[in-house]
Amino acid sequence: MTNERVAAACGSMQAAALYGEGAFCGTEKAPSFTAGRQGREGQTKRFQLFHFRKVREKKRQLSEREENIMEKLQFMLIGCGRISKNHIAAAAANADTMELRVVCDPVVELAEKKADQLEELTGKRPLVYTDYRKAMEEQKIDCCAIATESGYHAEIALYCIRHGKHVLVEKPMALSTADAGQMIREAKEHGVTLGVCHQNRFNDPVQQLHKAIEDGRFGKLVNGTARVLWNRTMPYYEQAPWRGTWAQDGGTLMNQCIHDIDLLQWSLGGEPDTIMAMTGNFLRDIQAEDFGAILIRFKNGAIGIVEGTACVYPKNLEETLSIFGETGAVVIGGLAVNRIENWQFADSAPQDAEVEKLSGKDPKDVYGSGHNTLYADYIRAVQTGTKPLVSGEEGIKGMKIILAAYKSQKTGLPVKFDSLEFATTDMQDSDVRYQG
Ligand SMILES: NC(=O)c1ccc[n+]([C@@H]2O[C@H](COP(=O)([O-])OP(=O)(O)OC[C@H]3O[C@@H](n4cnc5c(N)ncnc54)[C@H](O)[C@@H]3O)[C@@H](O)[C@H]2O)c1
Repeated sequence: MTNERVAAACGSMQAAALYGEGAFCGTEKAPSFTAGRQGREGQTKRFQLFHFRKVREKKRQLSEREENIMEKLQFMLIGCGRISKNHIAAAAANADTMELRVVCDPVVELAEKKADQLEELTGKRPLVYTDYRKAMEEQKIDCCAIATESGYHAEIALYCIRHGKHVLVEKPMALSTADAGQMIREAKEHGVTLGVCHQNRFNDPVQQLHKAIEDGRFGKLVNGTARVLWNRTMPYYEQAPWRGTWAQDGGTLMNQCIHDIDLLQWSLGGEPDTIMAMTGNFLRDIQAEDFGAILIRFKNGAIGIVEGTACVYPKNLEETLSIFGETGAVVIGGLAVNRIENWQFADSAPQDAEVEKLSGKDPKDVYGSGHNTLYADYIRAVQTGTKPLVSGEEGIKGMKIILAAYKSQKTGLPVKFDSLEFATTDMQDSDVRYQG
């Protein structure tokens, strides 16, 4: 509560509403209720003093509460590589509710570059660290955003969680069901908020699709398809040797296709039952797959189909999500699920007009700009003690479908989702190179 607001409130009926019954301000006279001038004045003064104290105490309590709500969350970004520019942009876009206090990377030049970028955008330079543990000791940090190689996510997230920090982790949240489960459990135990960067859930067309599903416009859901037809050349893998390895990354399903797989499962009900897959390494000299095909049977009966590749010639073609039901058919395409290609329902609804207004423009790159909204949602969740849209419990699902697909490739058998325990490193001894 600012002084201005208190002043504005004083002398009006709002004062009573703000400070409770009996509140009054400045010139307002407290009611007198005793006989005799002296006694009356004395009593009035005591009464006024009592009420002034009451008002002051209320004011103090309110301003403390408001300060707590309004205090900007202090973030540290751990990992300043390729995706970090989206975190910097999100920090700038949400500068009214957060402060990116620290950027951290063992490669100090990368961290310095991010500090420069944020300073350019906001006029405020974050501190640069090369060790996130040291930064945590020395600085007041509320939230840690983790954007390191995927293989380090679990270890760093668990360290942060155990030190009472809220964690927003890049996808995939981990590379094993055990690690992801532990992150979810420990976040709950330590009372911190765990979020996962599946920013495409915030794309306008995807939000509209989800609304249509929630409103029951599809009738019975039948099937859906996630197609990620992209190209990743050898220089992409050589630029960061962790990519395409079982220990640090996984293949194209885990790295490139996970967003669309997340959207597919979110759209078709989020409760997979059985998964079957074939994956292979056709063209790229990496350990893991560069192509994968997955079939998912959901508990509600719907069937999801995934076609994911890093081998499309000569460049990225599309990322598409299609959902089909008894009374609806929606296809969202574009470079990264941001353009409605087909929107048909048996009945019309007010949202159809909103859908028509969507721009359908492709983002500058396949990462899109969803990090800005994802951060806003995550900050809201931390401040209000509620779940973010992509919580740990949500983030694990896409990752687990992919691990089930890996297990199915390895064993040649369908895999039950609920009981799955698997890690990318369980694929170390499986040669997925296609020899045909
Ligand atoms: N959400 C998306 O659309 C999206 C897009 C690309 C990448 N990603 C994910 O983001 C993560 C990073 O990918 P990238 O392409 O930016 O990788 P990158 O190799 O370009 O960057 C990773 C950075 O993390 C740093 N790092 C490693 N250990 C660290 C530590 N202990 N403390 C601080 N920094 C550390 C590395 O030095 C490196 O600079 C991956 O998990 C990837 O899957 C997400």
